[in-house]
Amino acid sequence: MASLTPITPRNITFKVDGTRTLWCDDDAARTAFFDGLSIMFPEGERFFMEAVRDNAAGITDPALKRDIQGFTTQEAIHSREHMRYNRMLTERVGEVVTRLEDAEKKRIEFAKRVMGPQQRLAMTIALEHFTAIMADHLLRFPHMLDGADPEMARLWRWHAIEESEHKAVAFDVYRAVYPGLGGYLRRIWLMLVTTTTFTFFMSVHINAIMKADGRATWGNRWRLVKLFWGRNGVITRTLPSWLAYFRPGFHPWMHDNRGLVDSHRARLDATA
Ligand SMILES: [Fe+2]
Ligand SMILES: [Fe+2]
Repeated sequence: MASLTPITPRNITFKVDGTRTLWCDDDAARTAFFDGLSIMFPEGERFFMEAVRDNAAGITDPALKRDIQGFTTQEAIHSREHMRYNRMLTERVGEVVTRLEDAEKKRIEFAKRVMGPQQRLAMTIALEHFTAIMADHLLRFPHMLDGADPEMARLWRWHAIEESEHKAVAFDVYRAVYPGLGGYLRRIWLMLVTTTTFTFFMSVHINAIMKADGRATWGNRWRLVKLFWGRNGVITRTLPSWLAYFRPGFHPWMHDNRGLVDSHRARLDATA
């Protein structure tokens, strides 16, 4: 199945100087949430590209091949821009960024040593589902970026739009190469593993950044609880989408958010 929406890589170089300050509305909690995610991206997205490439040799469907090309180009540019973001971030929070990046790199090297191609792709589609549901949340609830440095907000919306565009590509490769019950069971198992590790390491990142900012206060921890579990919180609102992944017939485009993505895309492309 071809992607329901065009996958358009936009080669934008962002002014990431905003990371020198608490760029998200001077809110240490929200800033640390986005910065913590950014630290995961350069190595993480390279892992996704490799997992798809290592499983795609037998794909002959021209539409899926074209989607893979779009996916790979988008992720390569995301990886590059988040690398620039993270370098600038060191000016604010110091060497903690490099330390967290190195730890991430070691974890990924370990995963590549112990996991075969199917497991790596199953982990990739779990993480792509995570990024897709967080992207949908970010575009649907703009309050996440209220008061943010405009260029930083633009970067995060750009990433969210492109993650939405290519959300089904790795999944379609997985489904083509590993159909049936075996493929289903492994993707479910890897979703559980991925949810546990992703949540744990995101907490480590957020905590380390708030500490480095000198803002690891109970007040800011409470803001994080509300950011995740509040009425329009990230977890509160994305839990149904996360659960949908466990349905045997699940496909990322079952949640058809083309209208939302199109409206944001029009705005982004007008400023590109
Ligand atoms: Fe990405
Ligand atoms: Fe992605």
